[in-house]
Amino acid sequence: MIFIAGATGFVGRHLLRGLSREGHGARCLVRNEYGERLCSAAGFETCRGDITDRESLKGKLEGASTVIHLVGIIKEGGGATFDKVHVEGTRNLVEEAKRAGAGRIFYQSALGAALESPFGYLRTKAEAEEIVRGSGIPYIIFRPSLIIGPGDGFTENVKGLLRLGPVVPVPGDGEARFQPLFIEDWIRCLLKIMNDADSENRTFEFGGPEHLSYNDMLKTIMRELGVDKPIVHIPPAVVKAGLPLAGVGRKIGLKVPDVGAEQIDLLQVDNITDTDSVERLFGFRPIGFEEAVRKTLGGQPDRT
Ligand SMILES: NC(=O)c1ccc[n+]([C@@H]2O[C@H](COP(=O)([O-])OP(=O)(O)OC[C@H]3O[C@@H](n4cnc5c(N)ncnc54)[C@H](OP(=O)(O)O)[C@@H]3O)[C@@H](O)[C@H]2O)c1
Repeated sequence: MIFIAGATGFVGRHLLRGLSREGHGARCLVRNEYGERLCSAAGFETCRGDITDRESLKGKLEGASTVIHLVGIIKEGGGATFDKVHVEGTRNLVEEAKRAGAGRIFYQSALGAALESPFGYLRTKAEAEEIVRGSGIPYIIFRPSLIIGPGDGFTENVKGLLRLGPVVPVPGDGEARFQPLFIEDWIRCLLKIMNDADSENRTFEFGGPEHLSYNDMLKTIMRELGVDKPIVHIPPAVVKAGLPLAGVGRKIGLKVPDVGAEQIDLLQVDNITDTDSVERLFGFRPIGFEEAVRKTLGGQPDRT
């Protein structure tokens, strides 16, 4: 049996569809009724729990041969810190996986994860990786780049930015490069190696077929949505100073993107690896950004 933590998120929801197509069942850890309904409607078993609460996981992984750990946060808030969710949460899940005698654990880390990273997100992802590597359970770790697809956080935030007003505000110069990968290609990578003995105890670092700046990606999304507005670059410090105001805006119903200060800083640094990484590691060529954006937006012009 496959046990999935994080099945209700963007990646998880697409993975459920991928598993369904392949005829796989799974038990999904959910935190609320919404999660229960979402996973049950997709034909999956559910159980309630929170990875930061060890007690809530007790017995839930019984019978799990493979544990897929997709839980992560990109922004701290409401008591959820990177340390608590990524590090403590992973420790709890790994302990329960050990107790249940799981035969394999898959952990979704992130491109750029490093113990010495100045970013809490990337540092704690690396710490979680260490916990998984030290568990004694055969593991597979993915370090993917930015993943896009219907419902992804990146495109939703860009759509929010486009709705803000007559200009499109971009924190910083927008020149840092990313390597977006389409969600269906990510699923293909996982399904390809999930049961492959040669993939055991390996860390896969990969991304889409192009290095693109934030400006490049923004312009492509604007073109596909039919939006024609001037882009205005704003110093990151000014954007960060405005975040509390953005929070107030959201409270009164304005559709202001919900980003944290660290996300603004992460937009200023390259997050890339080899452009042929998927071909080399998984044996196929992923689709490019423009095609991925078309599929993500479903071809629906949204003239915001
Ligand atoms: N999306 C990307 O571009 C990207 C790129 C590289 C790596 N990643 C990594 O891939 C993973 C999935 O990303 P995503 O975009 O799907 O994120 P997401 O949409 O934010 O989903 C996060 C998932 O984690 C669950 N979760 C959060 N805190 C939890 C907790 N304490 N206990 C149990 N479940 C908890 C959420 O459950 P609820 O529904 O209950 O909130 C949700 O199912 C993350 O680890 C992320 O860091 C993502």
